Amino acid sequence: MIIGATSAIAEATARIFAQRGDSLYLVGRKANRLESVAADLKVRGAPVVGVEPMDANDIGAHAPMLARAEQMLGGLDTVLIAHGTLSDQKACEASVELTVRELSTNGISAIALLTLIAQKFESRRSGTIAVISSVAGDRGRQSNYVYGSAKALLSAFLSGLRQRLWKSGVAVITIKPGFVDTPMTAALPKGGPLWATPQRVAAGIVRAIDRSSTVVYLPWFWAPVMMIIRSVPEKLFRRVTL
Ligand SMILES: NC(=O)c1ccc[n+]([C@@H]2O[C@H](COP(=O)([O-])OP(=O)(O)OC[C@H]3O[C@@H](n4cnc5c(N)ncnc54)[C@H](OP(=O)(O)O)[C@@H]3O)[C@@H](O)[C@H]2O)c1
Repeated sequence: MIIGATSAIAEATARIFAQRGDSLYLVGRKANRLESVAADLKVRGAPVVGVEPMDANDIGAHAPMLARAEQMLGGLDTVLIAHGTLSDQKACEASVELTVRELSTNGISAIALLTLIAQKFESRRSGTIAVISSVAGDRGRQSNYVYGSAKALLSAFLSGLRQRLWKSGVAVITIKPGFVDTPMTAALPKGGPLWATPQRVAAGIVRAIDRSSTVVYLPWFWAPVMMIIRSVPEKLFRRVTL
């Protein structure tokens, strides 16, 4: 099952699963887009593709959606949570409402889903949960700390969930991409060695799921980059414009 299945990274990941012959349940906001992604995945080899329009912020819709996904697929073995919005930091600074909504979309809504999925997988004692967080969650920066703090919340939640569910044989994987060329980053200047394609990140996500990894930076070089960024003392970091 993929939540945020119309995302460029999620779609590229779903294509790999479809080519392997996996059945899929696609959840996202736009019914038309979900239908066209589903049609493409069927052509690529997915035997069954279910779709369900759902806004992730509609928390009451999560449990019935999960029940329908399980019924259609005959059970769930792997979940990828991929939805998100790159928050407009300046607009958030001027609006409490927008700040709270961005924290909900990028953090709370995923945590609500994870709480239900964890209950199911823990009692069944199997399954893989992969969630797209971000390198932005590793340290708050003035240019995007609303988005970054939502992803930090998500990453910390996943760390605790991983410890809890490991004992039950359930893998919890935190995916931390850097800059990826997708509609989310359409407004940013692109190009250069730090930018990755959705296909490259998708291959890394599938590899992490196959290996039951813990935390993966995609591409790999973001791990040392973020280690350096995290190690800068706050007294120095506050002077930097990032
Ligand atoms: N691109 C990057 O540089 C980058 C870097 C690090 C992490 N990430 C993370 O990677 C994930 C995928 O993003 P992407 O780069 O593939 O961007 P994308 O193509 O813009 O995908 C974002 C997806 O999230 C969905 N979404 C947003 N709000 C939603 C909501 N309330 N309910 C349900 N779905 C919602 C969007 O659906 P609609 O089509 O309906 O808007 C869209 O399908 C996100 O979690 C993002 O934070 C991206």
